[in-house]
Amino acid sequence: MQWYVVGHICYHLYVFMKILGIETSCDETACGIVEDGSKLLSNVVLSSIDLHKTYGGVVPEIAARSHIEAIIPVIEQSLEQAKCSWDDIDGIAVTYGAGLGGSLLVGVMTARTLAIAKNKPLYAINHVEAHIYANFLTATGAVSSRSNHSSTANDTAPAAVQEWRIGDDSYKLRAQQPEFPMLGLIVSGGHTQLVLWRDHFDYTLLGQTRDDAVGEAFDKVAKIIGLPYPGGPSISSAAETGDAETYQLPKARLDSAYEFSFSGLKTAVLRLAQNEIGHSHDFPSYKVAENLSESQRANIAASFQRIAAETLVDATLQAYDEHQPKSVVIGGGVAANQELRRQLAERLPLPIEYQDIRLMTDNGAMVATLGCYHAMRGQPIANPETLSIEPNLSM
Ligand code: KG4
Ligand code: ZN
Repeated sequence: MQWYVVGHICYHLYVFMKILGIETSCDETACGIVEDGSKLLSNVVLSSIDLHKTYGGVVPEIAARSHIEAIIPVIEQSLEQAKCSWDDIDGIAVTYGAGLGGSLLVGVMTARTLAIAKNKPLYAINHVEAHIYANFLTATGAVSSRSNHSSTANDTAPAAVQEWRIGDDSYKLRAQQPEFPMLGLIVSGGHTQLVLWRDHFDYTLLGQTRDDAVGEAFDKVAKIIGLPYPGGPSISSAAETGDAETYQLPKARLDSAYEFSFSGLKTAVLRLAQNEIGHSHDFPSYKVAENLSESQRANIAASFQRIAAETLVDATLQAYDEHQPKSVVIGGGVAANQELRRQLAERLPLPIEYQDIRLMTDNGAMVATLGCYHAMRGQPIANPETLSIEPNLSM
């Protein structure tokens, strides 16, 4: 009998639910296995980012081809890391949107094939929702052992965060799952959104960006000032030697407090950089970087990072004041940013717990986590014969 027909009857029979999650929406080929929506059993991520660096951004055809080569070894490695066989897996979750069409297709077709071949229920996952669900992971599996918490210089997480192990990898996971109502700030290369969850699968989109996503702004600003792709990590490290108060860049003012706009900030950085090197606004943007000094570059990176984080935190605080959630969580690649984490922790009236950075950028464990809640809550099972991709899927 097909799983998608009997899934609703069967889901509650599982006490310990292990879901395998597949993620291929952009340039990371990833597979993770999660038990009961809280235990991380494996997290294998293979990025094709090095192949895209010379182009200054992800080239969709190269990403799709890399997924085809990597997907099966990544899934096999994920099973091995979790010490699982297919018999142990209760379902397959896969990102079906939003993302690059060719990339999504590889993950979805692989998941559909495996669901049929291994006779497992299939769950269709929204990538953006999954980013927030990475925050529900609080432990690794029974096969792992707990070690003492060790802090690093730029560690902004509360002391309660423990270090967990999976094989040779160690993770600093949240001590507790977020409580509802939960305010989620999703900040990635494609999305900037504030979302209020009343419960699992019951949420309202409070606001989002009108133009560029904040990650996109990091990437574009990095390009202008001559830092390598991806811009987020390279701006962060350049900012370490810069003075964030050197330049006062503008914050966009919009009618709704929960809407964002980052394209003006990117243009303001270009004008500032042109001005700093003694040229007017018609000086070609591709020539700006080579004329900047190291200290100008570091100061621009730090000033931009400060204002981008402030913009996000202003809106999050306003949403917190209005909706009084019991928890605030962040997700998406930009949620790895230490300045954003620092500002949020400093300004939010409630303590905020941060998740391990490797669970903030694209990964399969977040997809598996949300997949567990689909399975445990009896959400509809996707048809493995027909599930199609939705590159423009929204919340
Ligand atoms: O969530 P993600 O891995 O992929 C998308 O779904 O888009 O996010 C990628 C974005 C890129 O724009 C990258 O520059 C940004 O996240 N990013 C960062 C940091 N690490 C990655 N932005 C700021 N600070 C970081 N440390
Ligand atoms: Zn993402």
